Amino acid sequence: MNDSKIKDISLAAQGLENIELAERDMGALLEVRRKFAKSQIFKGLKIGMALHVTKETAVLVRTLRAGGAEVWLASCNPLSTQDDVAAALAKEGVHVYGHKGESEKDYYKFLKCVVEAKPNLTIDDGCDLVAEIHKNYPELLKGIIGGCEETTTGIIRLKSMEKAGALKYPVVAVNDNKTKHLMDNYYGTGQSTLDGIMRACNFMFAGKTVVVAGYGSCGKGVAMRARGMGARVIVTEVDNFRGLQAMMDGHMVMKMSEAAKVGELFVTVTGDVNVIRAEHVKVMKDGAILANSGHFNCEIDLEGIEKMCGKGRQVRPAMKEYSVGAKAGAKKIFVLADGRLVNLAAAEGHPSEVMSLSFCGQALACEFLVKNAGKGSKGLAATVHTLPEEIDDYISALQLKAMGVEIDKLTEDQKKYLAGWESGT
Ligand SMILES: NC(=O)c1ccc[n+]([C@@H]2O[C@H](COP(=O)([O-])OP(=O)(O)OC[C@H]3O[C@@H](n4cnc5c(N)ncnc54)[C@H](O)[C@@H]3O)[C@@H](O)[C@H]2O)c1
Repeated sequence: MNDSKIKDISLAAQGLENIELAERDMGALLEVRRKFAKSQIFKGLKIGMALHVTKETAVLVRTLRAGGAEVWLASCNPLSTQDDVAAALAKEGVHVYGHKGESEKDYYKFLKCVVEAKPNLTIDDGCDLVAEIHKNYPELLKGIIGGCEETTTGIIRLKSMEKAGALKYPVVAVNDNKTKHLMDNYYGTGQSTLDGIMRACNFMFAGKTVVVAGYGSCGKGVAMRARGMGARVIVTEVDNFRGLQAMMDGHMVMKMSEAAKVGELFVTVTGDVNVIRAEHVKVMKDGAILANSGHFNCEIDLEGIEKMCGKGRQVRPAMKEYSVGAKAGAKKIFVLADGRLVNLAAAEGHPSEVMSLSFCGQALACEFLVKNAGKGSKGLAATVHTLPEEIDDYISALQLKAMGVEIDKLTEDQKKYLAGWESGT
């Protein structure tokens, strides 16, 4: 084994089983792997990654290595590492740093291990790797061809770096691929968030009132699946159009201060801070459950809640109980997975099919960056880029093929009709 820092290498055999199961459902990404194996596009390059260390990420890592890359991988969340997968990757020669339940101190130490390998390409989920390099290792910037970002929150941060003139290498916003945010955020987060909540506390959705904060791609998916399981859904929003969309989709829409009084389960997916605060908890029903599926653990104001209720009591591995009010028989509320993204902290994240699409985006974005690498005006600007539409379309085609589905092609007269303006009724 190399310099990896993982929980237990003896878990490698189970990790390998899980990676191979994931590969069965990631046919599109395996097709990209075959292409990279021929082209050796990453030969001699180092790729540094901060992603959830899951079996699907392992399939991406194997794909990049098949293209000739050497890979360093740290987790992008202290609770999301699958220790068996980390062990299997370490055994295969990947430099892996992370274990489930690592401290915040270790989290940053592991991120530094990736940075200090001097990567030529970076892959981030939440922008921590890019931020660490720009803040503390500016001397490495010249050796970096570009980066890729997986999630909405990371892209918001990158755009603010770009606006401030602080971003020093090109980054592809993989999240903005249609095949990412319209699939992963919507179907993936929709399903896996409910999965995480059920595994954490065996919640019954039917007949319950579920409050979803944020009606973006993730919130829409969570609301759709909760309703599908028989819940009444209330949406809270700060954006007029999204609020309107939630109404037209048949959900109730109201302020959090009102929703707090009637909800039984609360799910935040806003990418924002302090969306559920102590003042909301004060008016919640006894037994209310709070979960977050947004990227960072700041959507539920745990600090404010702990100030009001004390430290709380761990009642299950991913479920903490807080007493609201000092006297015996006080109302209880429950917080899942310490307010960290519940689908990865209490379950396994998105199903492999969904991650196949997202990671085709990551793999092809790396290829795009290498193909367009160059100095000065010849290369890509140090800004946030979207992948060309044809690459996104190629990913859809790969996935349809992997699913054994064929679609029609435009005939010549249809192409002519759609391109013209003369024909009327
Ligand atoms: N759990 C996962 O696996 C997973 C997957 C993808 C994305 N994410 C993360 O989920 C979060 C949401 O992603 P998205 O793609 O849906 O983003 P989005 O920008 O499409 O949607 C976020 C929505 O939240 C709303 N919002 C912001 N502040 C709010 C507040 N105080 N109260 C109510 N609504 C508010 C916004 O108006 C917006 O409509 C991000 O942090 C993203 O990184 C998580």
